[in-house]
Amino acid sequence: MTNSATTSMKALILFDSKSFGGSTDKLIDTIGLKLAEAGAYVEKARCKSRGDYSFVKEFDVVIMGAPIYYLMVSSELMGALLQSNLKSNLDGKKIGLFLSCGSPELMANMLYLPQLKLNLIGSTILAEKVFAPNQVTDQSVIAHYVDELIAAYQKSLAE
Ligand SMILES: Cc1cc2nc3c(=O)[nH]c(=O)nc-3n(C[C@H](O)[C@H](O)[C@H](O)COP(=O)(O)O)c2cc1C
Repeated sequence: MTNSATTSMKALILFDSKSFGGSTDKLIDTIGLKLAEAGAYVEKARCKSRGDYSFVKEFDVVIMGAPIYYLMVSSELMGALLQSNLKSNLDGKKIGLFLSCGSPELMANMLYLPQLKLNLIGSTILAEKVFAPNQVTDQSVIAHYVDELIAAYQKSLAE
């Protein structure tokens, strides 16, 4: 059950995918809905590797998500972290990470999440999750991820 006391969190879901209506779209719709149900203000934006990310400063939490293609986090999100001003605008931000892929979860956690995390040193990661194909539409698994993110956000405010 999603925590109903998120209050005024402003969350941005920054995502990349080569597909439309695929796993990533399904995940961001469900994550966004569950955050909104918990009281958060939510916007989503598709990554461009050379975009201007100064707008992320307006958000309390930036949730980044993408699929894995050919062993790599999808290129526009990785490109944005490596080539744009995204990383500098994320400095000190609270972050959520999610990936979707076809590999078993343990291997994916070791191979894929570090590709993002190595570029996020200095940011607070509230929650991270690699979604296996059968979890992309699993409401309880996604709710657990969102609950974890909200709980970590609230804890960070109390510190
Ligand atoms: C061209 C292509 C390459 C992929 N390569 C990998 C891979 O290297 N490792 C992996 O675990 N999954 C891989 N997958 C599976 C995708 O990561 C997975 O299906 C993901 O949920 C797709 O997200 P999307 O529907 O938003 O595109 C690949 C899928 C495609 C279509």
